[in-house]
Amino acid sequence: DDVPVLTIDGPSGSGKGTISRAVAHRLGWHYLDSGALYRAVGVAAAWADLDLDDPGALVRCAFDTEIDFRETPDGDLRVLVNGHDATDELRTETAGAAASAIAAIPAVRTALRDRQRAFRRLPGLVADGRDMGTVIFPDAAWKVFLTASAEERAERRYNQLKNKGVSVTLAGLLREILARDARDASRAVAPLRPAPEAVCIDTTGLGIDEVVDSVLALLPGRG
Ligand code: C5P
Repeated sequence: DDVPVLTIDGPSGSGKGTISRAVAHRLGWHYLDSGALYRAVGVAAAWADLDLDDPGALVRCAFDTEIDFRETPDGDLRVLVNGHDATDELRTETAGAAASAIAAIPAVRTALRDRQRAFRRLPGLVADGRDMGTVIFPDAAWKVFLTASAEERAERRYNQLKNKGVSVTLAGLLREILARDARDASRAVAPLRPAPEAVCIDTTGLGIDEVVDSVLALLPGRG
């Protein structure tokens, strides 16, 4: 495949989403938010009242759920799930926890694999997730793994939610982040780990622009 791909993997709260979107924007490339696909299936499963312990139903749901990304005129990315704008619901901790549970089902990951690969279109793709460099785009020319301390990730999420007026505690968020990390890293299929050739960037204490610049520095002449 001659469409260039940059993969950006890492745990929740590592800044992947913000950094990936900014880098895609600077490059003029497409952007894949793979977590949104897992979250969309989680939300569709909740709407259909599916049991999170029924893998067969969840796999059907992964195949059947329509997921569309739309950019609004002011550059906002909206996600439509079965035709409904579910952007805000997708960002909730409930949707994240459901996504993480269904993401551990191998057939769900297979169901979403080709949909993710379909985002690979000219002039290029920035793919954001957990297994972009290891499983979905193993031939990507550039692979980045972003990390940050769990405390800093909890604090970033806390500030995000507080700005939205959601009431949460820092300790509660830290607990959820540690639980989700453990589940994502220990599952049998596509566990969260850096590709051997990935460049690891620890974003603890770094600002968004500094991280974006270090990522773009990996693609000389393109940023
Ligand atoms: O990145 P985000 O927090 O939106 O992802 C939600 C959940 O979806 C993650 O906790 C992870 O379990 C799952 N996921 C995944 N593989 C990806 C992206 C997300 O397993 N490529």
